[in-house]
Amino acid sequence: MGRPNKAYVWRRAGLLLVILLCVTFIVSASNPNSPEGFLIIAHRGASGHEAENTMAAFEEAERLGSDFIEFDVQLSKDRKLVVIHDDKVDRTTKHTGDVDDYTLGELEDMDAGKSTSSDKKDEKILPLQDVMDRFAGKMAMLIEIKDSKLYPGIEEQVAEVVRRYEQRLNSTDLKGTRHLKGIGGVENSVGIVIQSYDFESTRLIHNLLPNIPVAALIHEDQHPLSDDTLDALASFTAYIHYPKELLDEQIVQRIHDRNRKVIAWTIQNDEDMERMKELGVDGVITDFPG
Ligand code: G3P
Ligand code: CA
Repeated sequence: MGRPNKAYVWRRAGLLLVILLCVTFIVSASNPNSPEGFLIIAHRGASGHEAENTMAAFEEAERLGSDFIEFDVQLSKDRKLVVIHDDKVDRTTKHTGDVDDYTLGELEDMDAGKSTSSDKKDEKILPLQDVMDRFAGKMAMLIEIKDSKLYPGIEEQVAEVVRRYEQRLNSTDLKGTRHLKGIGGVENSVGIVIQSYDFESTRLIHNLLPNIPVAALIHEDQHPLSDDTLDALASFTAYIHYPKELLDEQIVQRIHDRNRKVIAWTIQNDEDMERMKELGVDGVITDFPG
């Protein structure tokens, strides 16, 4: 038998390469922990670049290609949902006092640009509804219910807004909506995830909105989580959001063993980002998306 000619050898090598690529693709696509890829979640918007929780920060996150924008909600004096991190206005505006000392109209008049060094003007405290209208079908949103104990009933109000949003998206052909369904490899009707440090608040949201995935936000005081706590969280959450400083391979594995996603917060630099990827987390919440 003669030696195979060069063309034959190259064809065989090409075929082997194609098979290898297909196998790699199938293996990675069937990984139950990251079938849709690594999630980049813009913390309070792209808050490393623009004032946190403002339209400028959310639009910058969109421009940078984030998968989600994350933001925080509280209630105004007239019980309207507003997007602001603290329960006081002091840090992010030039005013003082509790968020619920002010009506929605008064909060909307405040300059919310104080939290960046650039002190951007004309960035306002936003009603939740405005953010959801602006990004409907375009960006996935991670909504954090803040200070649930301060605002009894806030979960029902958030649930009502999300229900209306869900109905709107399911009845309207909004650009990008299809992409948001199932984002992050989790069954998700409209690309909304709701999180809270308060596990009972998160459980209540899950009961009110069974189609919307919820995330347990782990505070450093709750670390390490016992197996019983993890089992309980896994019974109603899709994600466990863990402080990056406390994450190691073991906790990532324990969460993945329960078939839940691990998201690390809050990533501020490339070094942290690389470490999180090495640990095998499913995504990060970062001030510097993109
Ligand atoms: O999503 C994680 C992060 O938002 C929790 O911390 O204080 O920035 O709301 P905080
Ligand atoms: Ca938050």
